[in-house]
Amino acid sequence: MSAKNVTLKVENLNKNYGSVVALSNVSFEILKGEVVALVGDNGAGKSTLVKCVAGSVFPSSGSIYLDGEKVNFHTPGQARDAGIETVYQQLALVDTFNISENLFLGKEVKRTGLSRLFGILDRKEMRRQALQAIQEFNATFPDVNATVETMSGGQRQIVAMTRGAFWGKSLLLLDEPTAALGVQESKSVLEVIERFRSQNQMSLLIISHNLEHVWQVCDRILVLRGGNLVANLVKKDVTKSDVVSHITGAYSK
Ligand SMILES: Nc1ncnc2c1ncn2[C@@H]1O[C@H](COP(=O)(O)OP(=O)(O)OP(=O)(O)O)[C@@H](O)[C@H]1O
Ligand SMILES: [Mg+2]
Repeated sequence: MSAKNVTLKVENLNKNYGSVVALSNVSFEILKGEVVALVGDNGAGKSTLVKCVAGSVFPSSGSIYLDGEKVNFHTPGQARDAGIETVYQQLALVDTFNISENLFLGKEVKRTGLSRLFGILDRKEMRRQALQAIQEFNATFPDVNATVETMSGGQRQIVAMTRGAFWGKSLLLLDEPTAALGVQESKSVLEVIERFRSQNQMSLLIISHNLEHVWQVCDRILVLRGGNLVANLVKKDVTKSDVVSHITGAYSK
């Protein structure tokens, strides 16, 4: 596999919180366009790993490469500038803003010409681009101008994912995208992830406790246990019960 097909490479990553070893010598790659699940029990190190890649936690040692370039993120802003977007469970949407205002939060499009001098926002242009982004994922909203506080958990998740896909160039990190959602809502979110896979050149790394959901959308599964990467599995080669055995440690006994 040539290096240009590798979006993310993590090499011997370690993270200690005092005496707690959250990650121990973790190494793996994610290829361009791949959808990879990150699974493991509570406290296994999943969020820590995602935060190291997203620039919100600094690793104790090890290397991270994005599109073949070694990166050293000290802030989430640096990771975003490099093309990595993250959707955390808390989502970080502004309740009283609508979809397009949330999509362009902090990156507003200013009008051109004289109005630009006064920092006047080009709401029409932002709305046009937001609608186009939503349509690309076939997501539907009863009212695209509604504030996100009026939306369901699934719709909010889709707004946050659309924002990630809109700004991200290489990698989208999703921490538990279906955790708080009901059956129908999860279905819509998984359908949007499916569309990412078919339409997008981005790679996805998805933390999930739900193996049914993992099975529906992922190509490969990484299993963390006690901070160690204990399995790196191609989905079509394994069963769900294999994955559970790796999560619980039954395979290592
Ligand atoms: N800021 C922190 N300070 C100290 N210890 C931490 C911190 N963040 C995480 N840890 C510890 O690191 C280990 C890994 O935590 P992490 O949050 O990465 O696990 P996780 O796999 O995401 O778990 P969950 O499924 O419960 O979200 C745990 O032992 C946790 O207590
Ligand atoms: Mg976590």
